[in-house]
Amino acid sequence: MSELVQRYLDEVVGELAGVTDGALADYIPELAEVDPAGFGLAISSSDGYVYESGDARTEFTIQSISKPFTYALALDQVGEDIVDSKIGVEPSGEAFNEISVDDTTKTPKNPMINAGAIAAVALVPGVSPDERFDTIREFYSACAGRRLDFDEDVYRSEKATGSRNRAIAYMLDSFGVLADDPDDVLDVYFRQCSLRVTSVDLARMGATLARGGINPQTGRRVTSTRVVQRTLSVMVTCGMYNAAGDWVSAVGLPAKSGVGGGIVAVLPGQLGIGVYSPLLDARGNSVRGVLLCRNLSERLGLHFLTVSRESRSTVRAIYEPTPGIRVYELHGDLMFAGAEQVARTVQRNLDEFEVAIVDVTRVDDINDSARDLLAEVSRSLRDAGKQGLVVDPDRVVIRTGRGYHDSVFSTVEDALVTGEKVLRAKPTL
Ligand code: DON
Repeated sequence: MSELVQRYLDEVVGELAGVTDGALADYIPELAEVDPAGFGLAISSSDGYVYESGDARTEFTIQSISKPFTYALALDQVGEDIVDSKIGVEPSGEAFNEISVDDTTKTPKNPMINAGAIAAVALVPGVSPDERFDTIREFYSACAGRRLDFDEDVYRSEKATGSRNRAIAYMLDSFGVLADDPDDVLDVYFRQCSLRVTSVDLARMGATLARGGINPQTGRRVTSTRVVQRTLSVMVTCGMYNAAGDWVSAVGLPAKSGVGGGIVAVLPGQLGIGVYSPLLDARGNSVRGVLLCRNLSERLGLHFLTVSRESRSTVRAIYEPTPGIRVYELHGDLMFAGAEQVARTVQRNLDEFEVAIVDVTRVDDINDSARDLLAEVSRSLRDAGKQGLVVDPDRVVIRTGRGYHDSVFSTVEDALVTGEKVLRAKPTL
């Protein structure tokens, strides 16, 4: 733990504690009766360490923060094609409970408004509402790293007052969006909204998304990186409803709010944030929660569009241990832009060496586009009558089946031995 970070988080929570703007959700007594002063923050690092401040262990109902997780579960279980045929991904700019569908497709505009969330519930496999709910609860619990409790009273009240959601479900049914009985689907929707979480749970759930589907605390893969990518995308564009534009500009983190007062926010690859403060603004977002996220993002530089990593830093060093042999030492995360730069650098110097050794020992992570580009470098060297050697002790670049580089070594010294043999075999040298 870092004392500095802890002090900073306590400071921000303290600064905003005096803000009393907003109102409790009052459509059901259980939400209208909570302590308006409740205020909690938790941040989980991508390796699972959780910082807590204020009422980070206070339980509240997850409400709409359930939506991205059920959407992720639906994607995980039935795949993108089926999900896309039932739910769009366009921001609606409408309130969360708007009774609306897309004009052309007659499907909900996105999974973050109630219409899309109800449609997502119907896509989760299950022969009965109980089975479907169990699957959902298990999925959220796997993301949170503990079994989440269910609030029976909130569920009953949601169900008793849910005319608007009933209107939405029946409208969806009339357009053929729901493959199941609308009341059964709604029952599961009300139940999922009534699961109880703390800020710590939300931080852990967020961190699971930040880690591309792996819960950093349990190490369990909960879903795929592709599902997470899609889920985070709709959180960016639609997560904060008709405040989505404001949110992305000012905070710049994929997020989702709920009328229970919670917000989950995610910094991909880095952090999950869980916030609780039940006083809501007119759009149904937590007033202090929004301010807190805004503050954290500004002061800690968390905006996901902050351009921080220069691709130039990918090539750490270029040196020539022997005339005719050039070593390109790479480091950091190697993605498309960095690999493109490596490809260009090697290509540019083609006349100056016979053997290129690409040393990826210090590369932490690489994606497939970078792998393909490096394979391309290898091929182009061969075509030019040169030799490309790769030093890849952890096999981050080399994957079987991709037909990559001829020669892979564990150390630069080993590669040099081969490089020198290549030089000796060259008649011109
Ligand atoms: O569907 C509803 O009305 C609620 N149970 C959930 C709504 C919600 O959390 C909206 N988010 N801000």
